[in-house]
Amino acid sequence: MPEQEKTEKPEQSKAEAPSDGKPKPASARPKRGRPSRTRQNNKAKVPEPISVNKEKPKGIVLVEPNTSFIKNLKGNRPIIGLTAYDTIMGAAVSAANVDFILVGDSLGTTLLGYETTIPVTMNDMVRHTSAVRRANPQCLVVADLPFGEASLSFDRLLESCRRLMQEGGADAVKIEGGRDVADDIEKLVATGIPVLGHIGLLPQTVKAIGGYRKFGQIKEEAESIYTDAITLEEAGCFAIIAEMLDEKVATELSKQILPPLIGIGSGDGCDGQILVTTDLLGWSHGPVPKFVKSYANLNKVVSGALEKYVRDVRAGDRSR
Ligand code: KIV
Repeated sequence: MPEQEKTEKPEQSKAEAPSDGKPKPASARPKRGRPSRTRQNNKAKVPEPISVNKEKPKGIVLVEPNTSFIKNLKGNRPIIGLTAYDTIMGAAVSAANVDFILVGDSLGTTLLGYETTIPVTMNDMVRHTSAVRRANPQCLVVADLPFGEASLSFDRLLESCRRLMQEGGADAVKIEGGRDVADDIEKLVATGIPVLGHIGLLPQTVKAIGGYRKFGQIKEEAESIYTDAITLEEAGCFAIIAEMLDEKVATELSKQILPPLIGIGSGDGCDGQILVTTDLLGWSHGPVPKFVKSYANLNKVVSGALEKYVRDVRAGDRSR
């Protein structure tokens, strides 16, 4: 973490939030503590990760893929993530040369037939993450922490992340939330667990917020999202997903925070993009968000093939 980001200051007053809704550049920000944080005085020191783009320090064997690679892509080229939920998808997505795979809890709605991601369990996530890992993907594999796992206790959170990495084979975990989860994220990072943040629309909160919508269109909400992003940056997230953020807010935020901001439905101004793979492939059961550009219609291809098979067998074609 750069020197200007380190601080022992206990509180960020509300007055420090940007008054015009626009964040200040990282270099121009005052030293800040996190808003409403309690554990400011015993921050563990996390060593700077080794960069694959810089000269390799002598005597160090790099472990790849690593999160430094993703961090160092910021400002160089767009970062690309896609979801995968099993071995066949993991292999296809890895072969497409993405920078990281997310085993998202979107598997609840895309694969398992749930209406939301809320019913997805740790066992689901471990099983699907290990299936993706068995594809031997040549990129970072990030596993989603399911609903409720970050809310009970730090021990429970640590145990859940341990399962995703040790049993599932994930390289990193993704956690929904901003300043509410930042203290725990900081402790996880200090423990050696790389964390991908997630702000804006948080699908695990849809029951509480009443549905899916754009975030950051009013000034207070834009400021709150800015505070969340800064807090996650300070907690040590290697990158942050911004879902359904107002395009201007997302573009500005990408310029101002140090970790890459990876957008989904947040416009083209982010440092990278992630999509739910089944959405872009037209291989889905439910509605596809409007912002998704369709690259295939697998629903049509698959139903055409299956109908032809049924017709052929009924017609007595025994050649297959
Ligand atoms: O679960 C998921 O697939 C996600 C993406 C929408 C970013 O969180």
